[in-house]
Amino acid sequence: MSNVLVVYATDYGSTKKMAEVIAAGAQDEGAVVVVKAAEEATAEDFLAADAVVFGSPVHMGGPDWRIKKLIDTVTSGLWMKDALSGRVGAIFATGSNFGGAGGGAELTMLSMMNNLAELGMVLVPFPKHTPGYRDGGLQWGAYAQTHDKDMQPQGANEAQLAAARHHGANIAKVAALTAGKLSFAK
Ligand SMILES: Cc1cc2nc3c(=O)[nH]c(=O)nc-3n(C[C@H](O)[C@H](O)[C@H](O)COP(=O)(O)O)c2cc1C
Repeated sequence: MSNVLVVYATDYGSTKKMAEVIAAGAQDEGAVVVVKAAEEATAEDFLAADAVVFGSPVHMGGPDWRIKKLIDTVTSGLWMKDALSGRVGAIFATGSNFGGAGGGAELTMLSMMNNLAELGMVLVPFPKHTPGYRDGGLQWGAYAQTHDKDMQPQGANEAQLAAARHHGANIAKVAALTAGKLSFAK
């Protein structure tokens, strides 16, 4: 059993939907999951979690400012205390993907992963054999393209949501293996 915290930013609901599906995947593996908007997440939420999952829409080629604010204001204090070192971290994102080359998806995902690594967290990737990977991911995490090629909103499709659910299950599996058992040298 593990405790998983899923934190997301959203304007139009797609990233929130992905967060809920990732939570469902973690619950499939027996995790107790808390899902919170970035504005609401507290240091106590992080301290109670064996695994933390950040999800962001791609905004102007990078992460949403609310995720960045959370990192700068809440997790920075936990970084000072090495409080999250050895815990599990993972990410997901949504974006319109305009232009066909990602539109900043990879940069957004890597930017959040960078922050998790800075916190000393054990990062869970998104393997290419995951069902739905072709439509719903990069090696860094689950990703939903929420617009068609003409920039019309379509939301996350079934394959992307299925992929996200597997990502959540994988995160919970790693968290259950490591929860309370892993500590790095200090
Ligand atoms: C201010 C703003 C900037 C955006 N910039 C990008 C971008 O650079 N690349 C991209 O692929 N999508 C971009 N998008 C599209 C969103 O990433 C996409 O619609 C996302 O799924 C929205 O998530 P939400 O429904 O959770 O708000 C942008 C959307 C907004 C509102």
